[in-house]
Formats: sequence, structure tokens, C-alpha cells
Amino acid sequence: MPVLGSSGLDVFPLALGTNTFRWTASTAESHRILDAFTDRGGNFVDTADVYSVWAPGNSGGEAESVIGEWLAAGGNRERVIIATKLSGHPAHPGLSADNITAGAERSLKRLRTDHLDVYYAHVDDPATPLEETVAAFDRLVQRGLVRHVALSNYSAERVQEWVDVAEALGAAPPVSLQPHYNLLTRTAFERELRPVAERHNLGVVPYYGLASGFLTGKYRSAADAAGTARGALIGDYLTDAGFAVVRELEAVASELDAAPATVALAWLRAQPTVVAPIASVSAVGQLDALLASATLDLSPEQHKRLTAASDAVS
Ligand SMILES: NC(=O)c1ccc[n+]([C@@H]2O[C@H](COP(=O)([O-])OP(=O)(O)OC[C@H]3O[C@@H](n4cnc5c(N)ncnc54)[C@H](OP(=O)(O)O)[C@@H]3O)[C@@H](O)[C@H]2O)c1
Repeated sequence: MPVLGSSGLDVFPLALGTNTFRWTASTAESHRILDAFTDRGGNFVDTADVYSVWAPGNSGGEAESVIGEWLAAGGNRERVIIATKLSGHPAHPGLSADNITAGAERSLKRLRTDHLDVYYAHVDDPATPLEETVAAFDRLVQRGLVRHVALSNYSAERVQEWVDVAEALGAAPPVSLQPHYNLLTRTAFERELRPVAERHNLGVVPYYGLASGFLTGKYRSAADAAGTARGALIGDYLTDAGFAVVRELEAVASELDAAPATVALAWLRAQPTVVAPIASVSAVGQLDALLASATLDLSPEQHKRLTAASDAVS
């Protein structure tokens, strides 16, 4: 299994996203998804304090609670690498020292565990001095509550600043980046973040690996997306160039007897610095296509064709 940056953690090359838990997947279905994922070798689970606050009746923390309930009911904590995040929750925004300490304690309680394997700053907080934020994350590491620090949605410049501050303070450095990156959204990551990831051995764990489901090929028109839980996220992809990417995915998929989703994630997994794409499912039956990406290798020619189709979009 690949190693996540400088962390030494061996992670399955596909991380299970959990923003569907108690949103589009019921608690029982979420537990079936976790069982199936781990039974088939998956060990890397991505969550956040904010999941899934946007679902009617939710207040955030639901996905962490679902995972905690699963762990308490017999899920093997030692076999699972749990990554969670803070600063994206509307009721607990920002990265002040107090918010970080309180946020970690809340997440640990919901997850029913004594440590977080990877703890992400979910979104940057330019209003808090980075020295305060970096030192607060480091205190969690020193207390044994957090194993590794990581960053999501940070600009390349701010990642570099964080690395510099950590070095100056002798604090735990970040080990991973979680950017928005897939066949339809490439430029910001490839031009700016990837060089920083390479420079500092940051393992990249991209989110929206399936562009919210568009790269499965199941959306053919605005009508297909209308009224679905993710419909609002799909709209931007419904362009000629977006559909050209899907057509190329389908062509490669039929050559390999695979699903388009599998090919999309295999393309992502093969990108320099990427360790494990993240993707989620709303039903356990969707998981096969995701898991297959962990072992699917595209030929250089297939890889090139997909990149060329994607150049017109991203
Ligand atoms: N750091 C951040 O700021 C950030 C932001 C967003 C997400 N994330 C993380 O990344 C994860 C992945 O993002 P995401 O879940 O929003 O999007 P995604 O992985 O790009 O798309 C997942 C969705 O595609 C559909 N799908 C998956 N497999 C399928 C299959 N085999 N056949 C048909 N449809 C399928 C499902 O939705 P439907 O069944 O509803 O169509 C599923 O929920 C999240 O769960 C979260 O952990 C992080």
C-alpha cells in the first residue's frame, strides 16, 4: 500500500468519503458501506466535523457519529486510518487555538476513539496568526490525540507558510494535502499545489474524485441531475467538453471491461504526488466500481487520451 507523505501510514489507494453518511446514505447503509470497504482491504476513511450539516434536520457531526457507532459495534479501530477535519463547520469556524482544541475533543468523542490519525485544517483562516494555529495542532500531537497534521483547500503560498512556521516552531509538519482535483478540475492543483507537495513530500488525497458522480457517466442532461441530492453540483459539468471527457472514459472503460468511475479514479491515482483519491457512495452496491480503481492500471496511451480530453475542460 502507498505511504501517505512523510507520515509512515500505509493507506489503501482509495479513501472512502463519508459526506453521504446520514445524508444520502442511512445509518444502516453507511455501516454496510464501512463493512464492505474494510472487508475488501480498504483502511482509509475521510470525514469532517461539518458532515453533513447541509442535510435537512442535521447539525453537523453526523458522519463522525456514524463512524463512531460502527467502531463501537465492532469495527476494528486498529485497522482503520481515520482522517477528519475542522474549521468548515458554520457553528465552529476558524482556526484559533481554542477552536482547534475544542474541535478535536468533539470529534474524538463522536468518533469514540482516543486519537485521530490525520487531522486536517479544512479551510484556511487568514484572520488567525498561523503561529497560533500551527502551535495548537502541535499540542494535539504532543498530547497523543492527533497522529498527523494535514491541510485542505489551502493555496500553495499558505502551505509553504505553514511548513515554514512549523519548522521555525519545531512543530509537527503537515503530511498531506486534500485539494479539489479530478479530470474536470486540474489547473490550480497541477500548476500551484503539486510543486509544493513534491517539495515537502506531502501525500495528496484529492476530493471530488468522481466530480460528484458526473464521471460515472450517469448524467446525460440537466434533466438527469434535476431533483437529485447532488443536482446543484452537477450543473457546471454539463457542457460539450464535460461530455467529451465522459465519452473518453467510457471508451477506455469498455477496452478494460471496467466502469467509467473506476477509470476516472485510476487516472487520478496515477497522477504524481497523488496517494489515494477520495470518493463516496450512497449505496453499498456503488462500492465495487470504486474499489476496482485501486488495482486498475491504465496504459500510457489510455492515460494520454483521457488527459487530452480533459485539457479542453480544466
Ligand atoms: N476537503 C474538502 O473540502 C472536501 C470537499 C468535498 C468532499 N470532500 C471529501 O471527498 C469525498 C468525496 O466527495 P463527494 O462524495 O462529495 O463526491 P464524489 O466522490 O466525487 O462523488 C460521489 C458520489 O457519486 C455517486 N457515485 C459514486 N459511485 C457511484 C457508482 N458506482 N455509480 C453511480 N454513482 C456513483 C454517489 O452519489 P449519488 O448516488 O447521490 O449520485 C456518490 O455519493 C467526500 O465524501 C468527503 O469525504 C472533501
